[in-house]
Amino acid sequence: MASNIIDWTDSWQDKLDIKSKYASAEAISGRFSKEVAEGKLPFCSMPYMAELLYDLEGLESYVKGFEHMLLLGIGGSALGARALQKAFFSAQDEPCHEGPWFWIGDNVCAKTLESYLEKLPLEKTLIAVVSKSGGTIETISQYFLIRKKMKQKMGDKWNRNFLFVTDKKNGFLREQADELSIKTLEVPDNLGGRYSVLSAVGLLPAMFMGIDYRLLVEGASAILAPLASPELSSEALLKHPSYKLACWNAALMEKGYNELIFFSYIPQWACFGQWFAQLWAESLGKEGKGSQPIPAVGATDQHSVNQMFLDGPRNKGCLFLTCDSLADGEKFVEDIPDKFSYIKGKNFGDLIHAEGLGTKMALSANKVPLVEIKMAESSEECAGRMMGLLMAATIFTGWLMGINPVDQPAVELGKRLAKARLGADGLQDEKNDLEAFLSV
Ligand code: PA5
Repeated sequence: MASNIIDWTDSWQDKLDIKSKYASAEAISGRFSKEVAEGKLPFCSMPYMAELLYDLEGLESYVKGFEHMLLLGIGGSALGARALQKAFFSAQDEPCHEGPWFWIGDNVCAKTLESYLEKLPLEKTLIAVVSKSGGTIETISQYFLIRKKMKQKMGDKWNRNFLFVTDKKNGFLREQADELSIKTLEVPDNLGGRYSVLSAVGLLPAMFMGIDYRLLVEGASAILAPLASPELSSEALLKHPSYKLACWNAALMEKGYNELIFFSYIPQWACFGQWFAQLWAESLGKEGKGSQPIPAVGATDQHSVNQMFLDGPRNKGCLFLTCDSLADGEKFVEDIPDKFSYIKGKNFGDLIHAEGLGTKMALSANKVPLVEIKMAESSEECAGRMMGLLMAATIFTGWLMGINPVDQPAVELGKRLAKARLGADGLQDEKNDLEAFLSV
């Protein structure tokens, strides 16, 4: 089994008050065990993962009977799937690729949806509508448009081409599924979108794309199982990389480090940066606290925002993601001018390693606190480990900061105001606020 290591050689360790964070391990381990037992942290629930695999296997032949999948979802209901697609399903970009094809509608953009509709043979397309609440307007409005087209194309059998991933009891999508006999997969109670990539939300698209979803779960289980034990001890917690990472981050924030770079030197994992940014920002940006996540990818961003990382305000920490065994590619052998002779006999793998090392050293030389997360390989199992690690670290960081990492009250306000603006029933306070705001 592959393993991933966090490299704690960061010289900043000594300059931070990490010890006081370690002192919270007793209280936090007790709280974690209790919340797992109460079903409040389902991303860490092993029985849930086993049931989910069973449900997915039951749907596999139906889902794979389609040539295309169009996922309609937004935020946590889409970002994990996109990261997995970019990391493990590059075949779709190849000109002679014969399928399957995976698409994501995660915005209210007429141009994008129209271009999808021009390309997609609807009769061969499975529309996966992914919404935990079952009522997110950006997702539901896309559903209405596609449903109309699907009815025109498929007549009475239109519902066969839809699959909902939603709450097991509540919400508009659940009502629609019951009324119209649409197949569903459940999102468990208490699982917020940004913690849901290893539920049906991320695993259904992974299965469709032929990504080894069982290995994703295996990797996550390997890292999360020690935490999911009914009696997590403070000793076990202190040894766990997610808790160490949380202590490091909480201590950094206390010193005024209010930005956190997620620098991936696994180029095809770049979109995990967006996935992480949502997880971190929506979970931890509370009560004036938190650190702003900044996704970046090497080597591309060395030629862009890296100058700011290196010599801008000294307020940034860095999670530095690397992998020793990247696919190496072809060697540069012939027709290499003398000027570039230093790359002779080398390949892209050598280049990205050298660039990563250079950037890591430059960040350290410029006193950017940095923790390296080393992946053994670019595999589903390692991706599962990394996601499990980062989700648990986010929960622990939130608790160490004294905030709730699983709600998002500020985001909810904007959604209510938008609904009020569109004329939704009720929401009188929001309507009054809008009127006052617009009349200034
Ligand atoms: O992390 C979250 O909770 C959000 O980003 C949600 O995923 C997003 O708002 C979509 O919500 P839903 O899945 O209910 O449509």
